[in-house]
Amino acid sequence: MNKRVRKAVFPAGGLGTRFLPATKVIPKEMLALVDKPIIQYGVEEAVASGIEHIIIVTGRGKGAMEDHFDHSFELDATLERRGKHDLLAVSRGVSGLARISYVRQKEPLGLGHAVLCAKEFVGNEPFAVILPDDVIEAKVPCLKQMIKVFNEKGGSVLATMTIEGPGISAYGVLAGEQDPNNQRIYNCTGMVEKPKFEDAPSKQAIIGRYVLTPRVFELLEQTTPGAGGEIQLTDGIKALLKEEKIFGYTFEGKRFDCGDKFGMLQATVEFALKRPEFGEKFKKYLKGLEL
Ligand code: UTP
Repeated sequence: MNKRVRKAVFPAGGLGTRFLPATKVIPKEMLALVDKPIIQYGVEEAVASGIEHIIIVTGRGKGAMEDHFDHSFELDATLERRGKHDLLAVSRGVSGLARISYVRQKEPLGLGHAVLCAKEFVGNEPFAVILPDDVIEAKVPCLKQMIKVFNEKGGSVLATMTIEGPGISAYGVLAGEQDPNNQRIYNCTGMVEKPKFEDAPSKQAIIGRYVLTPRVFELLEQTTPGAGGEIQLTDGIKALLKEEKIFGYTFEGKRFDCGDKFGMLQATVEFALKRPEFGEKFKKYLKGLEL
């Protein structure tokens, strides 16, 4: 088995109902955060983490993602003719970002099912899963931090973030003991999906980044659909935990939930404020609002 994490799966076959009506025709993953589709942030993170092959799991009506990462001959030719070289570089940069394969999830049967659709492309090697909704700002790319932990510990790694208070109930929560040598690492002993605040086994919420061993594919194949007829990734990971060590890792950085309207608004404000070309102007504008 190849031990290096070279491939990343991007499940993007969901319906994005929380963003309706915007997502009736436009895939949620193509909604722009300032001026870039949210999935591009994830692809750039994967590339910056050393990933060589990206597998995007798409669904019906989600072809815009394929077009986005492909060459756009008409656009590029027009930009060239007009002498817009900086914009041409932006357009070409996107199509040259990474080696990307696409696989269709014929029905949105859950996140676990979406990951399973990528099995043939991944093969028998460890791989990353990036949920494109989760845009992460970090000095060292989140996935790169996780691959380092995977290489050191030799087991699957789940990214977590610390959530104080009842907000933890919205997440899958990690159970486990902190590694005595590294406070960011937890030896995972279990996971509880959306627990009541009183029942949460820790403050570590599992977010949309995983490094997994390929055994999870076989276990997902054996997983029976849960509520809503969906195959959950968490169920596959729980089965994996019975056979292999799994680690939680509190990544360094900030995560924005861009699959949710409020999270997208927060990300938009914070990312816009950091843009050198208009950040100061935007700050002045915000300060001038009578709130
Ligand atoms: P979400 O539950 O956040 O996405 O799944 P969703 O179902 O598209 O959105 P809502 O809840 O209806 O608004 C997290 C990620 O998993 C993918 C989604 O595309 C999203 O990137 N996913 C989910 C699939 O690829 N297939 C599925 O069957 C379900």
